[in-house]
Formats: sequence, structure tokens, C-alpha cells
Amino acid sequence: RTEIKWLWQNATELADKQVTVGGWVKTIRDSKQLGFIELNDGSNFNNLQIVFEDSKIDNFKDVAKFNVGAAIIVTGAVVLTPNAKQPLEIHAQKIELEGASAPDYPLQKKRHSLEYLRSIAHLRPRTNTFAAVFRVRSVAAYAIHKFFNERGFVYAHTPLITGSDCEGAGEMFRITTLDAKNPPLKEDGSVDFSQDFFGKMTCLTVSGQLEAECMAMAFAKVYTFGPTFRAENSNTARHAAEFWMIEPEIAFADLDDDMQLAQDMIKYVLKYVMEQCPAEMKFFNDFYDPDKALISRLTNLVDSDFGKVTYTEAVKLLEEHKDEFDYPVYWGCDLQTEHERYLTEKIFKKPVFVTDYPKEIKAFYMRMNDDNKTVAAMDLLVPGVGEIIGGSQREERLDVLLSRMEELDLKADDYSWYLDLRRYGGTKHAGYGLGFERLIMYMTGISNIRDVLPFPRTTGSAEY
Ligand code: 4AD
Ligand code: MG
Repeated sequence: RTEIKWLWQNATELADKQVTVGGWVKTIRDSKQLGFIELNDGSNFNNLQIVFEDSKIDNFKDVAKFNVGAAIIVTGAVVLTPNAKQPLEIHAQKIELEGASAPDYPLQKKRHSLEYLRSIAHLRPRTNTFAAVFRVRSVAAYAIHKFFNERGFVYAHTPLITGSDCEGAGEMFRITTLDAKNPPLKEDGSVDFSQDFFGKMTCLTVSGQLEAECMAMAFAKVYTFGPTFRAENSNTARHAAEFWMIEPEIAFADLDDDMQLAQDMIKYVLKYVMEQCPAEMKFFNDFYDPDKALISRLTNLVDSDFGKVTYTEAVKLLEEHKDEFDYPVYWGCDLQTEHERYLTEKIFKKPVFVTDYPKEIKAFYMRMNDDNKTVAAMDLLVPGVGEIIGGSQREERLDVLLSRMEELDLKADDYSWYLDLRRYGGTKHAGYGLGFERLIMYMTGISNIRDVLPFPRTTGSAEY
């Protein structure tokens, strides 16, 4: 078999050559002696046209009855079609049925709503939209690995099962092998986790950061790329219970180095995906961007700098428009999605880093600023999505970290290994977490996180 992508790329040299392709029928139509199949084999975003004629194949009547969705293998001659959208078509000499498709195949030619397609997540990779989304997802993942490896980063595999709540938000999924209906109890009536599989309470990780910091104190430049889990009870278009996060961690680096790395990484990935997936990106540009300006926007971005504003300045800017928001905005508030989007879409009109948040709304490990009120944190906000990155310079001063943990009622004993990093050759260091799905939403214009994950898990929904 030859892949359709290869035919596409080498069309000019293939006139009259005989080839064999295998794929799935996207559309099929016929008149008495002549028929057309649009075939897709997954290698190429665009379909390949197969022309079949009663005089050239011996099973014309059978082929004409194939349903959309059938898997077939076709042998035929390449005919160049320089004036058509496609560079070539195949005139069939032989068409074999690999797997028939029942007539109730749900994906007929018409356009289906994204909501409906979510209900058939096992079939939706066969539609144009999801073929494009999942290809871009794959290529973007590769670009991220390529970016970090070209810069000498070590890919660190951090555990998914953990005893520590990195973000301190209490949004962790518990893991247990205890009998949920009848767990062993301690004398005070609470569940006795010492009898559990790990001999203590464990959860699915919300972030690989703390372990990444350990690796960074040996390799200086590391990154993670793996699944993370949050039991956030927020039924929104940008929260999933299981999502993928990329978390670089760099030693001898401060918040500015951190933002520079984030900006370089995003630009690199955008550029790589636009180069490698032109057909998919054109599809998003034409069908998912109201102004059909997605590609030009992303292209301009690659050549410009992101905005930068402190939290304090950002709140001042937002306060000038406070009538436009449902949630109040004031110094100390946690910025809501509507605030984030206003900043990046209306005020800056491009991606913007917001820095130096009040310590109260950020995690325990962030480095205290000299004002003792704010921490060296940064969030990257982008138009259409809001926050896609959360990062910070880490608190490397043991005494400051300990007193912050005490304020937050975190037990030093539980974090002794993390504190060791400050006892043995601690150095200033920084890192961030990029929500992979949110990056894909930004790059494609797809507005719901359920449509960039192959099998989404969200509040109240874990199909499959
Ligand atoms: O801002 P967050 O909570 O930061 C951390 O977890 C840090 N430990 C990262 C670090 O410094 N190494 O999460 C980072 C990013 C967010 O900006 C967002 O893009 C994404 O992860 N994210 C989610 N994406 C989808 N669904 C959710 N429920 C998400 N929660 C966070
Ligand atoms: Mg965050």
C-alpha cells in the first residue's frame, strides 16, 4: 500500500503509475456506469478521489453499494488533475472490501454539531474537525519535545500517584484499594489509610512540579510532559479532570528567564505546527475563526513580543471597566476568566504575562517579593482562552519557605524531601506549567476543551 500523503507530495512523478491505497470511504456516489469515492487513509487531511467504472472493474454493482465508512483497498492508475484542488486521482482497476459499514453509520456527509460528535467520541476522529485537531495535537506534542531537547533539557518522568498536593487547592482525586462501603476505621472513626495499598493516603497528581524541582537541582534544565488530574468542580469549557501539562523547571534562573522560555516555546510550537500542518491550519482558519484570520494572527505573533503587566497594574486597568464584568475586580481578587480575557482580548490584544500576584491567591512555593505582599508569579493569558500558563520563581530561601508553610498550616515533615532541596545546594530556580489542551484550543480556535481531548473526562462525565 502507498499512503495518500506520499502520493500527494510526489504527484508529478506518478502519472499513469499503478498504485494500491487503503482507506475509509468518506463519500460515494455513482451513476449507471461511473462512480466516485472520496477516500481517506489518515495520512493526509485531504481525501483522494477514486474513479470507478463498470468497464474497468469486475464488481461495479457491489462497489456502488458500499456505504460511507467502509474500509477498502484500491488498486488503480494515477491520473494527474492539475486544474483541480487535488493534484491527482486514481482510476480504479480493482476495489476490495476490507470491512463493510452498516447503513446506520452516524457520520454521513452533512455537518454535525460538536455537541453531537462528543456523544460519539469513538467515531469522531474520522471527521474533518477531529482529524485536524488530533493531528495538530500530535504534532504540537512533538514540537514541544523537540524544542526542549534542542535546548539540552532532560525529559523528567514524574509520578502520577503522589502523597503531596502541589497546588494546595485540595482538588485531588484519591486513590485507594480500601473497600469504599466498609473501610477500616481508626479509633476516632476516621478512615485508617495505614491499611491502604501504600500504607497512607495517596492521590493522582495535580502537577509534577515538586518532583521536577528535584530533577532540576541535578540537571539544571528539565521538563515534564504528562497527564495531570484535578477534581475541580467547575463545569466550564476550559477545565478537564484529566489534562496534559508541560512543566519545565530551570535552575539559576529567575522570573524573567522563565517568561522568556515560555515565550520562546509557544512561538516555536506555533511556527512548527503551521509549517507541518498547513491543510489542518487552513481548515481551522476557514471554519473556526469568525474573521478567517487565525493564520495571519499566529504568524504575526511569531514575530512579536508578548505583553507584560503586573497584577497590580492589571487590576487598575480592569477597574476602569468594572461595569463590564459579572465578578468584582479589586486588588487581592483572583482574576476570573472574564477579567483575563478582557485584558488579553480588549486591552493588550495579544498574549500577555501578568506577574507578581498577591501571595494569598498563589501556591506556597512561590518566591516572596520584597514588598512581602506579592510573589514572583506569572500567568500567560491568551485571546479566546484566558490562562494557558501558570508559573513562578520558586522560594529557595529555607527560612522564608518554612515561615510561609507555617502560615498556610503545611507540615514541614510532609515536605522534608522538598525542603532538602533548599538545604543541599539550593539555588534560585523557576518554572511553569503549560496546559496542553488550552494551547491546542488557542492554536485551532476550538472553544471547548472537550473537543481537543480524544476522550475527555470532565465533571459528571467520563464516557468510555
Ligand atoms: O496554574 P497551574 O495550577 O500551575 C501549576 O500546576 C504549577 N505547578 C505549574 C508549575 O509552575 N510547574 O496549572 C498550570 C496550567 C494552567 O495555566 C492551565 O493552562 C492548565 O495548567 N490547567 C488546566 N487545564 C485544563 N483543565 C484544568 N482543570 C486545568 N487546571 C490547570
Ligand atoms: Mg494557574
